[in-house]
Amino acid sequence: AHTLTGRDFLTLFDYTPDEIKQLLQSAKSFKENPETKKGVLADKSLGMIFENSSTRTRVSFEVGLTQMGGHALFLSPRDLQIGRGEPVRDTAQVLSRYLDAIMIRTNSHELVEEFAHYATVPVINALTDAYHPCQAVADLLTILEHKQTLAGLKLAYFGDGNNVAHSLLVAGAKMGMHVVLATPDEHKADQEIVARVREIAKQTGAIIEETNDPAAAAKEADVIYTDVWASMGFEAEQTTREQSLAKYQVNEALLTSAKEDYMFLHCLPAHRGEEVTSGVIDGKHSFVYDQAENRLHAQQAILAALIG
Ligand code: CP
Ligand code: NVA
Repeated sequence: AHTLTGRDFLTLFDYTPDEIKQLLQSAKSFKENPETKKGVLADKSLGMIFENSSTRTRVSFEVGLTQMGGHALFLSPRDLQIGRGEPVRDTAQVLSRYLDAIMIRTNSHELVEEFAHYATVPVINALTDAYHPCQAVADLLTILEHKQTLAGLKLAYFGDGNNVAHSLLVAGAKMGMHVVLATPDEHKADQEIVARVREIAKQTGAIIEETNDPAAAAKEADVIYTDVWASMGFEAEQTTREQSLAKYQVNEALLTSAKEDYMFLHCLPAHRGEEVTSGVIDGKHSFVYDQAENRLHAQQAILAALIG
């Protein structure tokens, strides 16, 4: 097996398809055999810096490490000296002397990169404005569980082309999936990321598409995915986004052309009546709670690989 020990986990661009498969295999195995988690990370400590709110990421990392014998510390910039202006370089180097890994959620992806540059222990991206790689591994795990395969599946994403969509693009491209983003022009995915993803697709056989036509995206899709319209940091744009994104709502009418056994996924938190109707997210095609649970197993695999 490849060794992932000591690596950062900032985006899936840095991981080969085999390495991602290795993480998925490990997550599946931890999920099926929870007794094998015990003691794997005994005495390991993870610092978790949360500049933004979190339910799933915080609890799944903290509980996940506890189950493996380690300890996670919740660190708020409100309390850390970094919130009073202590330089990132000092914070990263000092925390590296105490901790085995550092997890960060912040709006700025550049900040996480800077942190990782100075830290001497693995740094894990727990969501930035650009990527949500931990979520993407849990998403792949959930799809794999229910579809037994990833390559060739059509995943259609609707709405805001930002962090979660970017990580799905990277993950899908690495795994040879057919990923279609249906977004309005003003909320398209970052075109630099799309260009990099298209290069990967050439090697893996993935298909990457962007469209303004939600019906075309939904057609024959195996996986339907959406995310909040106004992400953290964009709350002030709620009203204008409701207008520009309304057409991309995931609802029953849109899904009549999806595969009969399509799966609905959402990273959560969800807003019923906005990006998705209650009929869809609370319906029989929805696997959002399995998906949320899988954050735990996926992150246990990531932690075991990086610091085990
Ligand atoms: N999906 C996700 O990352 O949820 P939280 O914001 O609750 O961590
Ligand atoms: N796109 C959302 C994801 C939340 C998990 C946000 O950035 O707020």
